[in-house]
Amino acid sequence: MSAEIRLSDALDRVKPSATIAVTTKANELKREGHDVIGLGAGEPDFDTPDNIKEAAIKAIRDGKTKYTPADGMPELKEAICAKFSRENGLTYKPGQIHIAPGGKPVIYNAFLATLNPGDEVIIPAPYWVSYPDMVLLASGEPVAVQCGPDVNYKLTPEALEAAITPKTKWLLLNSPSNPTGAAYTKAELRALADVLLRHPHVWILTDDMYEHLVYDGFEYWTIAQVEPGLYDRTLTVNGVSKAYAMTGWRIGYAGGPEKLIGAMRKVISQTTSNPCSISQWASVEALNGPQDFLPERRAVYQQRRDMVVEGLNDTPGLTCPTPEGAFYVYPSCAGVIGKTSPSGKVIENDEVFAAELLEQEKVAVVFGAAFGLAPAFRVSYATSTEALQEALKRIHRFCSNLS
Ligand SMILES: Cc1ncc(COP(=O)(O)O)c(C=O)c1O
Repeated sequence: MSAEIRLSDALDRVKPSATIAVTTKANELKREGHDVIGLGAGEPDFDTPDNIKEAAIKAIRDGKTKYTPADGMPELKEAICAKFSRENGLTYKPGQIHIAPGGKPVIYNAFLATLNPGDEVIIPAPYWVSYPDMVLLASGEPVAVQCGPDVNYKLTPEALEAAITPKTKWLLLNSPSNPTGAAYTKAELRALADVLLRHPHVWILTDDMYEHLVYDGFEYWTIAQVEPGLYDRTLTVNGVSKAYAMTGWRIGYAGGPEKLIGAMRKVISQTTSNPCSISQWASVEALNGPQDFLPERRAVYQQRRDMVVEGLNDTPGLTCPTPEGAFYVYPSCAGVIGKTSPSGKVIENDEVFAAELLEQEKVAVVFGAAFGLAPAFRVSYATSTEALQEALKRIHRFCSNLS
């Protein structure tokens, strides 16, 4: 008989990622031969641009296949410093840059390096599913602040002020947001910065992963740029995954104060060590190379967003705000809760809604409760226009058949 392994208490505090679960379930149904449309995945359907792929192939041919410094190689740190200066007006030295295998580990390394039991992290909800669980794994306490459609899914200065306690260690900002696509204007960040200036013990982790995916000419700002007085306690996180369609390459990065970056270096040096050397060379090309494909892709995403928002708002029981960015929309399904599907199932909440939609119409979306704000669901429009049109038809049929 094999012995039962006792798992860690920290692991007991977390749940598996709901977004990955939806994608797995949708793939399972596809393998069984069902015609499933997956609107659950959080990755671009575009390919990594060729010049970036070529840079990786060259790196392999040139033998750039060995360990690099644990938190990234100097050439990529230089490219990141240049990016922060060029696009965000932020001055960082290479010693202020942390590079890890994806944006996710950058954030986790920051929490591991700074959180002690009882430390609170303010997380505006709806939030990216991984934030609270990363905080919990690192022994901290996530403090979710509800930011519903009435406030355009954004944290208000009043709600921030009310959430801050002596135990607050971090405020986590994510603009444009996964799952809502909401992005903060300069004036909105200014108002939050005014609150933060009054609370010097609160650090700010801003996750700018979707920076390049903004629409209708939206002007992008990050908080340390809006209020230089916060620079010394802000970690500005970004990465190549979404803008450059490089999710599989696993490169994320951050700029921040040297002491924090040094602590994060200690974490990465004893855990993963350096991110893949080849992916780092590819990322140098991504950041330093031509950027002209970005507006082209942005235009395609914007068309899809408009089509999806219109289609969802035309569906009985759904209301969908128009977000500023990312490739997600977050419709409320409050209007269908309590109704019954033709199979006799009562739509008690958004989790049942998403499960029935997948079961009946083979459309995979992620239910809102997973992101901390219900009843709603997340639609990713990072898929072909044809697939989106068909999905909208099916969602419309599903909701119209509820009684
Ligand atoms: C808001 C947000 N931050 C960070 C990440 C992580 O990106 P990466 O794939 O680089 O770890 C994601 C990916 O889904 C995300 O949506």
